[in-house]
Amino acid sequence: MFEQHPYGKLIGEYIQNAEFPKQPADLYDPIKYILSLAGKRIRPMLVLMGAKLFGKENLEEVVPASIAIEYFHNFSLIHDDIMDRAPLRRGQATVHQKWNDNVAILSGDALLVKAYQELGKSPADRIPDLLQVFSKIALEVCEGQQLDMDFEKTAHVSEDDYLNMIRLKTSVLLGGALQMGAILAHADANQQKLIYDFGVNLGIAFQLQDDYLDVYGDPNTFGKQVGGDILCNKKTYLRIKTEQLIDSDARVEFEELIQSDSILDTEKVSRMKNLYAQFNIDGYAEEIKLRFMDLAYNKLDEIAVPESQKEELKKLADTLMHRTR
Ligand code: IPE
Ligand code: IPE
Ligand code: MG
Ligand code: MG
Ligand code: MG
Repeated sequence: MFEQHPYGKLIGEYIQNAEFPKQPADLYDPIKYILSLAGKRIRPMLVLMGAKLFGKENLEEVVPASIAIEYFHNFSLIHDDIMDRAPLRRGQATVHQKWNDNVAILSGDALLVKAYQELGKSPADRIPDLLQVFSKIALEVCEGQQLDMDFEKTAHVSEDDYLNMIRLKTSVLLGGALQMGAILAHADANQQKLIYDFGVNLGIAFQLQDDYLDVYGDPNTFGKQVGGDILCNKKTYLRIKTEQLIDSDARVEFEELIQSDSILDTEKVSRMKNLYAQFNIDGYAEEIKLRFMDLAYNKLDEIAVPESQKEELKKLADTLMHRTR
C-alpha cells in the first residue's frame, strides 16, 4: 500500500535488514516470518508523518520508534490470531497454525521485547516521554483485547461498549504512533493531544472498516478468513446494529444462527450476511465510519501548522478508508 512511498521504503529496508539470531529456530523463525509478510505498515508511517507534521527533518531519529510500533503491532497480531482462532494472516498461514500455540505465544513475547529494544535507540532526551506513551497504549491494547474476548461470551453489548473496546484494542495505537512522532519533533502537549485525538478517531473508523471487510472483503485480496468474526461470535458493529434493528421474524433466524452448533461454517456466514442485507447494516456501518472520519478531520484542522503540511496525513486517511485489505 505504501511500498513506493519514501517512508514506506525506509521502514521496509530497516525491517528487511534487521537481524535475528538463528537459534532457537522456533523462537526467531516465526518473528522473521510474520515480519516478512509485509502488512500495510500504517502505524510506522504514522510515527514518521507525525514527526514530519511538526517540522522534524532528521527522520533517521524517528525510525526506531516507528519500528517499535510496527513490532508491537506484529506481536499483537500473533497473539490475536491465537485468541481469534484465525487460520490466515496477510494471505498466509498464521504463526500458531504454521507452528503451534506455544511457539506463537513465546515468539510473540520476544517480539514485544524487541519492540522495546528498538524504542531504546531513540534520542536519549525523548526516551522518557516515548516510554510513557508506548507503555500506556500497550496496556490499553491488552485491555481492549480482553474486552473483545469477554464480549464473545456476553449476550448484549451496547454500541458504546463496542466503541470503547475498539478504541482500546486498535485506535490508541494509531493515536499513540502519531503522538510519538510529535514527541520526537518536540511538539508541545496541546499539539500532541490534538494529533493523538486525530489518530484515535481515525483508528475507530479503521476498525469499523476492518469489521466491514471481515464480512464483505474479497477473499482474494483480504488476506484473512472472510467471516471469521461471525464464526467467533464477535460483537462487531454490524452484529450489534442487527440486533437493534431486527423484527420478530428475523429474530428467530438470528437466534438460531448464534445458538446452533450444527450449522456449517459457510452456511452460518451466508445466512448472517443475508440478515445484514435485509436490514441494510452495511449502510449504517458506512455512516458511523464517516462520522468518526469527520471527528478525526476536525482535530487535524485544529493543529497549528500550515495546511499544506497536513496533506500527507489526509491522503493516508483517505487511502485507509477505501482499503480492501
Ligand atoms: C490489523 O491491522 C489489526 C487491526 C487492528 C484491525 P492492519 O490491517 O493494519 O494489519 P497489517 O499490518 O496491514 O497486516
Ligand atoms: C485486532 O482486532 C486488534 C489487535 C490485534 C490488537 P481484530 O481481531 O479485528 O484484527 P484482525 O481482523 O484479526 O486483523
Ligand atoms: Mg481480535
Ligand atoms: Mg483477529
Ligand atoms: Mg478484524
